[in-house]
Amino acid sequence: MSIGLLYERSENDENGIKLTAEELGVELTFIPFRKIAISICKDTHSISSKGKDYTNIIKDIGVVLNRAQSKNRRLYAAHTMETLGKKVINPSTIEFECYSKFRTLMNLWAVGLPIPKTVYVPCDPYDTTKDGKKIQNEPDIADLIETQLGKDVIIKPDAGTHGKGIVLSQDHQKLIANIQETEPSIINPVGIVAQEFIQKWFYDLRIIVSKEKRKDPVCHPVALARAGFSDFRTNTFLGNLVFDAKLPPHIRELAVKCGKALGKEHEAWVFALDAMINVGKNKNADDQTLKTELDKASVSFKEVQKVKKDETRLRDFKTWNGKLEGAFKNYMSTEAYAKVKNIIEENVDTNRTRIIFHEANSCPEFWEQTRLIAGINVAIPLIKGAQSLLV
Ligand SMILES: Nc1ncnc2c1ncn2[C@@H]1O[C@H](COP(=O)(O)OP(=O)(O)OP(=O)(O)O)[C@@H](O)[C@H]1O
Ligand SMILES: [Mg+2]
Repeated sequence: MSIGLLYERSENDENGIKLTAEELGVELTFIPFRKIAISICKDTHSISSKGKDYTNIIKDIGVVLNRAQSKNRRLYAAHTMETLGKKVINPSTIEFECYSKFRTLMNLWAVGLPIPKTVYVPCDPYDTTKDGKKIQNEPDIADLIETQLGKDVIIKPDAGTHGKGIVLSQDHQKLIANIQETEPSIINPVGIVAQEFIQKWFYDLRIIVSKEKRKDPVCHPVALARAGFSDFRTNTFLGNLVFDAKLPPHIRELAVKCGKALGKEHEAWVFALDAMINVGKNKNADDQTLKTELDKASVSFKEVQKVKKDETRLRDFKTWNGKLEGAFKNYMSTEAYAKVKNIIEENVDTNRTRIIFHEANSCPEFWEQTRLIAGINVAIPLIKGAQSLLV
């Protein structure tokens, strides 16, 4: 039995998984998940693209690494592969939990893990009656949320990514306006998710936890800190800088508990947890000094961004990867990088008991930032997890 790598398009992460597998001497079988027909009838099935029949190729696969890119597609892929008798990393039930930020938080809350106070109202901003009249529900939704959370409220699409649609309101009118904009959509299937505004500082953390069959779950000891002052959302998609931050044992232990709470009875899994620290006034540097250092660090980060955009990655991944590693190394060797990193690490350590977990990503991007900054090539736990399921 072999390991399958399922994806739609081969992006850096998928190329990275292939390169890592090659280095580890592990063979991966490609499973396309876009222009294919999955056909079921009586006691037969087939999976084929226009030019190729994959049915028999897929029969020999025991474990599938699911790299389908949208949450919906990933859920479909995991479920389809499981029904065909494969084990999947991550399994469909995990995908189901991670699909929704609220479901994820319910799992963490149920075992007492620290989360932001979160309110789910299962009602859309408006309904349309049979005779075509619009009923506005925003004022009622806003009242329900404000009663629980007060004035500072974050609204976020339940299945959103890249910080899209995450908005802050600090008064009633703005809250109503924000609710109005959260229409039902594929990234926000039903209702409204609202959250207390965490008084984090200029950074948040991405923490990798994973489990192989017959082994205890592990938390990678270094997190990827995403940092910047331009917006309250500090995720990297919005152009923030990245730093490595050593995690105190307390946070690592909690992260493992998050992994267990979401992984449940499954034997192998990988998560990237998003966490914030409720720093409040517990700051160990002044914002102005930090802004100056971040500006300095951003100069060498521009080189990184230039390499990231370099299209040669599509033709010659290995050479491009070498350039990427070089650019990150230069960025990380600057004085400004070291200063900001030290401030973050010290702040994380001092405020370790104020950690709050707010999301779990079941198919994280990793090849560029997480691997080169936090020093964890997520392809390794993925491949090792798959190998452990084969035996
Ligand atoms: N309750 C909150 N209080 C303060 N800041 C928040 C809160 N929730 C989210 N943020 C900020 O917004 C950013 C994006 O939030 P979140 O991770 O929930 O969104 P996302 O769409 O899943 O983004 P990504 O796909 O990059 O993880 C976080 O990195 C954090 O900086
Ligand atoms: Mg997130």
